[in-house]
Amino acid sequence: MTGDKINIAIFASGNGSNAENIVRYFENDPQINIPLILSNKAGAFVLQRAKNLGIDSVVFSAVELKEGDKIRKVLQEYAIDFIVLAGFLLKIPDYLIAMYPQKIVNIHPALLPKYGGKGMYGDHVHKAVKAAGEKESGITIHYVNEVYDAGQIIFQAKVQISPEDSADDIAVKVHALEYEHFPRVIGEIAKS
Ligand code: GRF
Repeated sequence: MTGDKINIAIFASGNGSNAENIVRYFENDPQINIPLILSNKAGAFVLQRAKNLGIDSVVFSAVELKEGDKIRKVLQEYAIDFIVLAGFLLKIPDYLIAMYPQKIVNIHPALLPKYGGKGMYGDHVHKAVKAAGEKESGITIHYVNEVYDAGQIIFQAKVQISPEDSADDIAVKVHALEYEHFPRVIGEIAKS
C-alpha cells in the first residue's frame, strides 16, 4: 500500500473493456487506486484505453512473464497490493501467485467448472456454450492458483440464453454481467 490506498494492477491481453470499466468504477474511490495496466500484447486496445484514462502501462513478453525480473520490479515500483486479470490470456507463473496469495482474481465468461481450462477463452467459450445448447451461461470470478480457471470461486452470476441467441449474443449478455458485477466484487475482495 502507498499512503492509505490499496494499489491494484490490471493485466489484460486484448480489448480491455472490463479494464476500463473497472478503472472508471474506482476513479473516486477513497480506498482503491489503479496506477497500472499491464499487457503481453503490444498492439492491444487496452493500452490505448490506458493512455486515454491517464494510467501508466507496461508491455511484457511471455518470456519476461515467466522469467519474472521485469514484472517483479514494476509491481514493486508501483507498490501493487492486488492484481486483477481482465481478459488476460497467459498463465500466471507460480512466483506471482506466491507473491500475491489470494490477491489475484480473474473473471471467466462462463459458469465454471463448465467451459474452463486451456483454450477456453473469449469467443471459444461462447461458441461452446451455444453448441452445447445451454439454457444459461454467466460469469465466474475466482482466485487464481496454479491451474487454469481452477482457483476458488468467489462469485457467479447467471443469464438466460434463448435458442435464437448466437454466440455473439451470448457474449453481449455475459459482458453486461461482467460490467455489472466485476468492479464491485473486486472492491469487496481487495478491501477485505
Ligand atoms: C471477457 O469476457 C472476460 O471474461 C474474458 O475475456 C473477455 C475480455 O473482454 N476473460 P475485454 O477485453 O474486457 O473487453
